[in-house]
Amino acid sequence: MGAPLPLLLPFLLLLLLLVASNTATAAGDGCNMGCDLALGSYYVTPNVNVSYIASLFGFSDYRELAKYNRGFPSLDYVAAGNRLDVPFTCKCLTLPSDRASTYLAASFPHKVDTGETYVSIASKYSNLTTADWLQATNTNTYPPNNIPANTILNVIVNCTCGDARISADYGLFRTFPVKDWQVLASISEFSPDQKALLTIYNPAIHSGTGSGIAYIPAKDPDGSYRPLKSQAGKKVPAGAIAGSVAAGLVAPVLGVLLFLFYRRRKAKQGALLPSSNESTRLASTILIQKLSPSTTEADVASLAAGITVDKSVEFTYQELFNATEGFHITHKIGQGGFGAVYYAELLGEKAAIKKMDMQATQEFLAELKVLTHVHHLNLVRLIGYCTESSLFLVYEFVENGNLSQHLHGTGYEPLSWAERVRIALDSARGLEYIHEHTVPVYIHRDIKSANILIDKNTRAKVADFGLTKLTEVGGASLLTRVVGTFGYMPPEYVRYGDVSRKVDVYAFGVVLYELISAKDAIVRSTDGSASGSRGLVYLFEEALTGLDPKEGLQKLIDPKLGDDYPVDAILMMTHLANACTEEDPKLRPTMRSVVVALMTLSSMTEFWDMKNPGLVNLMSGR
Ligand SMILES: Nc1ncnc2c1ncn2[C@@H]1O[C@H](COP(=O)(O)OP(=O)(O)OP(=O)(O)O)[C@@H](O)[C@H]1O
Ligand SMILES: *[C@@H]1O[C@H](CO)[C@@H](O)[C@H](O)[C@H]1NC(C)=O
Ligand SMILES: *[C@@H]1O[C@H](CO)[C@@H](O)[C@H](O)[C@H]1NC(C)=O
Ligand SMILES: *[C@@H]1O[C@H](CO)[C@@H](O)[C@H](O)[C@H]1NC(C)=O
Ligand SMILES: [Mg+2]
Repeated sequence: MGAPLPLLLPFLLLLLLLVASNTATAAGDGCNMGCDLALGSYYVTPNVNVSYIASLFGFSDYRELAKYNRGFPSLDYVAAGNRLDVPFTCKCLTLPSDRASTYLAASFPHKVDTGETYVSIASKYSNLTTADWLQATNTNTYPPNNIPANTILNVIVNCTCGDARISADYGLFRTFPVKDWQVLASISEFSPDQKALLTIYNPAIHSGTGSGIAYIPAKDPDGSYRPLKSQAGKKVPAGAIAGSVAAGLVAPVLGVLLFLFYRRRKAKQGALLPSSNESTRLASTILIQKLSPSTTEADVASLAAGITVDKSVEFTYQELFNATEGFHITHKIGQGGFGAVYYAELLGEKAAIKKMDMQATQEFLAELKVLTHVHHLNLVRLIGYCTESSLFLVYEFVENGNLSQHLHGTGYEPLSWAERVRIALDSARGLEYIHEHTVPVYIHRDIKSANILIDKNTRAKVADFGLTKLTEVGGASLLTRVVGTFGYMPPEYVRYGDVSRKVDVYAFGVVLYELISAKDAIVRSTDGSASGSRGLVYLFEEALTGLDPKEGLQKLIDPKLGDDYPVDAILMMTHLANACTEEDPKLRPTMRSVVVALMTLSSMTEFWDMKNPGLVNLMSGR
């Protein structure tokens, strides 16, 4: 097939993103520029009022704070116990003792009163700074408990401008003083999404106890998150290509690429293709698939829909019969809940044909046409279908088995930690796509390791999405099968049949636990009795809430990983799986947040891979 231009495009985009990632970073990591705005979260105590707080941060008029504190009816009276957002400019500063070391912060001059100490000054600034940090950042290091009155100190409040390596969606952050990392994640004022973000931007949370400051993405006064600013045109924020720009810019490029690609394919295999309309459609769909790196698919797809001829591939029974030598046993690659799966080559492409034990209804046929237009690198593509004699679904063939086989089966090399993280991220992206970017939006309802297929480059693709519609719109009576698989179904679905995207998030959490432990979603007891079977979610919960969570977790980690994994990353994945499998669906993060979390995990893993220190087990030993 060669490597046509469309194949290279995602890599170019990726390259641009990587270049951009060296711009703004979190405090202390070194910085080269700051940003216009950061917020400090000031906890209002009984002895202060807003005009006093404003004066601490150099505002002559406290009403300047109104814009960032719309929640209060009036700033003239803000009751103790509330949090006030104080806006400031986040600058890249240098340490007086070490000019080479830079950090992001703001500096507020403060005239010392008689009897003030570093500790009391930190407290006056709502612990947005610490006594140690005050001492480190002020050259005249007076004794901590005897600072001469009227000395002008710099009160340094750390901040961050976001991190392109984590997400381009967040560019405004609130500096938040934390008494105890452990209780932070359970603070009720955060939404589940914020909690997920919190654990990503503040890795210190995972190390357990201690205090300090945390960064949490904040919203602009208009109520939306402020995206990371593109710096000097270096960065290509995800989604910037989408939207309105797409129409003006991408369309002509797409047109040209489409044209080139169409010609190539036609020259190569024109004879194989049913008609020229057909080949245009194929070319464009392949193009869309390769073109779109992550979040722009929907836009490009809708864009392409205008250009191409909208016709799904309908195969005849004869074609499928011939391609499988009459559905011969040697072509059979598997058997699932809906029917048997056969290998075939169709239109010059390797395909998996699913022979469903049912007929398609009119409604489902309409649905199928939509499904053939959903394209994403991390979704198994539906090439076409056939409705003669029974219903057949023709999928792209994914060479390397399913995740369940890789984890539990024999005949495959054990997956490395890096591969597990990538598989998690790939499948999360596929799932995020059907949750957020398709029209209509899909809920998979049968996420499990057997429905995550692995290709020859050990990249993952989610299979069988959209099939639940089949059971909904038609032939329900023909189906004896419950949609969903035990061990993966959340309580609200089992008990009340409640369906939401959070059903998939739960199942995905179980898959994460499988990746960590290589255990089945339902673990049979050693004595083999059904009553002794335990869900994986239960096992992890038991371990995490036990007397020694680290030891409990250690016992669950797949022994095939040996010592070959970064401990922090496993902890983080466990936390993520735990959040995904919360009993209350409202407390589970969205797939979007899960993707962001896994991206961080993946960059942690890459970093670890590079230096590969062969960490001795930090968890049990020390
Ligand atoms: N597109 C494909 N490419 C390669 N192998 C596939 C493809 N689709 C399915 N298979 C394989 O065929 C087998 C049966 O798949 P099928 O989807 O019918 O059952 P399942 O995934 O085990 O259960 P479910 O019916 O709940 O999806 C699986 O082992 C799967 O790995
Ligand atoms: C502020 O950032 C610097 C640099 O990362 C760090 O050393 C310091 O401890 C931070 N201060 C606070 C109060 O967190
Ligand atoms: C706010 O507090 C300061 C000192 O703490 C006081 O002087 C001032 O009168 C107060 N202002 C209002 C409006 O209460
Ligand atoms: C700041 O921290 C100190 C020590 O932990 C604590 O006693 C004090 O109440 C805190 N102040 C505020 C405003 O949170
Ligand atoms: Mg399947």
